[in-house]
Amino acid sequence: MNRASSGIHTPFAATLIGSQALSADTALFRVAPEASALEALSRFVPGQFVQLSVPGAGEVPISPADLPGGDGTLELCVRRVGHVTGLLHTLPAGSELGLRGPFGTGFPIREMAGRPVLLLAGGLGIAPLRSLLFHLLRESRDFGEVTLMYGAREPKLMLFREELAALAARRRLRLYLTVDFAPQEPAGNFSCAVGLLPDLLKGFSFDAQGSYVAVCGPPALYRCLAGELEGAGVEAERIFLSLERRMRCGIGRCCHCAVGQKLCCTDGPVFRLSELKQIPEAL
Ligand SMILES: Cc1cc2nc3c(=O)[nH]c(=O)nc-3n(C[C@H](O)[C@H](O)[C@H](O)COP(=O)(O)OP(=O)(O)OC[C@H]3O[C@@H](n4cnc5c(N)ncnc54)[C@H](O)[C@@H]3O)c2cc1C
Ligand code: FES
Repeated sequence: MNRASSGIHTPFAATLIGSQALSADTALFRVAPEASALEALSRFVPGQFVQLSVPGAGEVPISPADLPGGDGTLELCVRRVGHVTGLLHTLPAGSELGLRGPFGTGFPIREMAGRPVLLLAGGLGIAPLRSLLFHLLRESRDFGEVTLMYGAREPKLMLFREELAALAARRRLRLYLTVDFAPQEPAGNFSCAVGLLPDLLKGFSFDAQGSYVAVCGPPALYRCLAGELEGAGVEAERIFLSLERRMRCGIGRCCHCAVGQKLCCTDGPVFRLSELKQIPEAL
């Protein structure tokens, strides 16, 4: 095999180490890639995605929820929604997988240096933002204060809640959680507001002129969050949103993921709000 094209056109081999259920339909998968993938994965920037292949089913784009160590192990937080993700959820540890990438743009971690960073996650949008959060915390001397606002539909759908609460308890980050509604059930060892994610921003006191903002969640939230952020004084140049489009090749060849004249897989998935404002159908 041509080494230059492996990992781009041809998947690296990878092994499923194990998985941990996070909710009824979402789990965190730990995946170990073959050694020849390590160089490519060492260039991973939070917000980028990999094309994960499940033999016998197909390939799906997934933004890693973290690359925790130097051994290239990936943590992928995957919701079971259809054919490929459905089969992935049935696989035992030791199963063979494939990986291409990392692809696309990530969050601008160099530009964020020295600045406070506000992360806004809705639902499964916490997955790519978790890898950014862990990067900011590991390299905390290089960044200003880190704040995470995370909204889920209801308490049992709030992913990584104990992990996030533990980080907040150790004062590693300012954490604000909210759920759309709270049915009569034990909410677990954490407390949160009841309301929509944009409501958390209303009246929130922060350094709007200096902060960088990273947003990932359901597209329906984006207009509203962008309006709140700009209203608070954050420039569109410093607001970064991760877009999700159906993908096929992942490398700019098939045009499946077009966002106006841009391609989500190569120009994105992370875009500046100022860029997206030029594309009427983007948000
Ligand atoms: C850059 C990027 C990063 C992503 N990161 C994650 C992640 O970290 N975790 C995660 O669980 N998912 C993530 N996704 C979504 C994931 O790729 C899809 O859920 C997956 O491709 C569905 O494949 P499937 O074969 O299981 O479902 P299918 O059988 O293909 O489809 C099942 C249903 O899901 C819908 N669907 C499929 N793909 C998408 C999509 N891209 N956007 C909207 N609806 C879709 C279909 O319309 C259909 O209704 C990401 C997508 C992109 C583009
Ligand atoms: S997925 Fe093929 S061009 Fe983006």
